[in-house]
Amino acid sequence: MNQQGAEPARRTPGAIKLHGPEGFEGMRKAGRLTAQCLDMLAPMVRPGVTTEAIDKAVFEFAMDHKALPATLNYHGYPKSCCTSINHVVCHGIPADKPLKDGDIVNIDVTLIVDGWHGDSSRMYGVGEVPRRAMRLMEITYECLAKGIAAVKPGARTGAIGAAIQKHAEAERCSVVRDFCGHGLGQLFHDEPNILHFGSANDGVEMRPGMIFTIEPMINLGRPHVKILGDGWTAVTRDRSLSAQFEHSIGVTEDGCEIFTLSPAGLFFPDKPDHPFA
Ligand code: MF3
Ligand code: CO
Ligand code: CO
Repeated sequence: MNQQGAEPARRTPGAIKLHGPEGFEGMRKAGRLTAQCLDMLAPMVRPGVTTEAIDKAVFEFAMDHKALPATLNYHGYPKSCCTSINHVVCHGIPADKPLKDGDIVNIDVTLIVDGWHGDSSRMYGVGEVPRRAMRLMEITYECLAKGIAAVKPGARTGAIGAAIQKHAEAERCSVVRDFCGHGLGQLFHDEPNILHFGSANDGVEMRPGMIFTIEPMINLGRPHVKILGDGWTAVTRDRSLSAQFEHSIGVTEDGCEIFTLSPAGLFFPDKPDHPFA
């Protein structure tokens, strides 16, 4: 139920919401709590821990902070977060299989706070991570940073995708085409779609008040994915490693505000000096 009454909020194709100060304040709170949840998980991500245990920690963190995990029962999705290990691109379902030394895992959390959605994901290395996996995580992080740097009013959303694709391909990696960033706010997935590839002339003009995610998925091999029999888990067809980082942002008069910055500086600890780290 939303403030308008008993009708659920609906996605309205073609209409992109422009949020005011209350929307930005709501997103700051939801974004901060989501980032704190991802911070809380950092010391837990060790060899031997199950993604099921991580999911339970996310659920309990949400309950303790009067928040709801948006993915739980979302279109039938069964868990409070997504955990995508190695060649899993996204939407990996937490399970009782333990993480092992050298794995890389993306944990994607969306918390609803007072009706607003904070959506963010990060990569975590498990124990000693191979160099090529470290390099992929670093390139993916840089892709998100370059996408965010392209956000400014007057430019088109395609500028984000163009910046991401240019960097990924210059580093001989590929951009997953099958999933995109999305508008969000009081809805989890709203207009506009934010593609992570394409031309700067694509998409719609960005305007102050737009709120959306940028969440590039970058592969060491080819871009193609397939969905496993569980109906959710997306994996690379060539089984190459995949990585993803995600922030929720709002377009401002002169650029953007990132709602999901890590209060502890743990977004990507391997780049501690970077402004978004
Ligand atoms: N958090 C994901 C995103 O970034 C969506 C997960 S939906 C789920 O948009 F159902 F798979 F959990
Ligand atoms: Co998202
Ligand atoms: Co997400």
